[in-house]
Amino acid sequence: MNTDIKTQTPTDIFNAAKARLDFPALHQEVHGRPLVYLDNAATTHKPASVIEAVNRFYQRDNSNVHRGVHYLSQKATGQYERARETVKRFINASDQSEIIFTRGATESVNLIAQTYGRNFIRAGDEILISEMEHHSNIVPWQILCEQTGATLKIIPFTDSGEIDLNVYQKLLNPQVKLVGIVHLSNTLGTINPVTEMVKMAHAQEIPVLIDGAQSVAHIPVDVQAIDADFFVFSGHKVFGPTGIGVLYGKLDWLKQLPPYQGGGDMIHSVTFEKTIYADVPHKFEAGTPNIAGAIGLGAALEYLTSWSMDEIVRYEDDLLRYATAKLRNVEGLSIIGEAQAKAGVLSFALEDIHPHDIGTILDMEGVAVRTGHHCTQPIMDHYQIPATTRASLAFYNNRADIDALMQALQKAIEVFR
Ligand code: ALA
Repeated sequence: MNTDIKTQTPTDIFNAAKARLDFPALHQEVHGRPLVYLDNAATTHKPASVIEAVNRFYQRDNSNVHRGVHYLSQKATGQYERARETVKRFINASDQSEIIFTRGATESVNLIAQTYGRNFIRAGDEILISEMEHHSNIVPWQILCEQTGATLKIIPFTDSGEIDLNVYQKLLNPQVKLVGIVHLSNTLGTINPVTEMVKMAHAQEIPVLIDGAQSVAHIPVDVQAIDADFFVFSGHKVFGPTGIGVLYGKLDWLKQLPPYQGGGDMIHSVTFEKTIYADVPHKFEAGTPNIAGAIGLGAALEYLTSWSMDEIVRYEDDLLRYATAKLRNVEGLSIIGEAQAKAGVLSFALEDIHPHDIGTILDMEGVAVRTGHHCTQPIMDHYQIPATTRASLAFYNNRADIDALMQALQKAIEVFR
């Protein structure tokens, strides 16, 4: 097979047309136009196998987990724990107990902020995050800083949307007790050099949390290769259901952390005098979990691994280049985020048209994008803009989707200029 991307057509790289057939929601019209879905960074659509897995659970297998000796409870428990095993394999964790099911990446970050924070953060300590974090990797640390008297420090990014590792190196010091860094920026598309950043932090014995909410669906993730101490992601951005997410933590760390919430299923024994907590991962999963969500997430990851991630990376990169070249030809348009290492996010600003106006016209043409600050207001502040229009890709998108985006954009420009 010819591996030179320049001489290949996109369909040689990856059969997106076939993948698209697996996603029922993509095959509909909105406002009388065929749907062109380019809001994958907000949430991805679900393949039929995920919808069927969730449906099957409620139709046939519904029962609570870890609680019953009866047939259905055992079956539900088996499926729930198999989903954990699937997640473990997908991110290459070394042990199934390192996978905690949460409501999503946001809850996973909050869990670490409140448990690691309770045990390891004191007044005068520093928590280091980047200027390109999603609010969900900013606000939990601000809350922790308010609770403890620690200080939040910020690693800046350059105008192209890249972290300068020399500046990062200078910010690492013995006061820093945790680094939190986004793997793939939901607004800029930047892929951060997390493996190197973890190595630099570990040289000073500082643990690192990676926000992988956007990366898992677009680039291969190996938590052991990255050597992440904590890695978080959401199910719904990786073709799974909403309301389910993952916290990966190295076993050594998880064992040292106190529980996040108290309740059923996270205990060995309870008396009014003393409660003994369950082992990880159950220590962190109080209450009845989102069983169907976990099973759906397992199905999503099985589905994704039925494709080649390397081919997906190359295919999405081709689409990104195609779209970038087209957008560059639009007068008065600036692309926000031009990192060398970048994946399927196209944020842009037109100097004279507000993103919400663009988004409204695009919607009328059937093109779904997100407009706004994308829960990254510090990025908007960096560029001194209130908002961007953002088209974000998945492997079921194609060049025709980009052409439709460009046509709709042209229409918006005609209406507003
Ligand atoms: N974080 C999601 C986004 O970027 C919701 O749109």
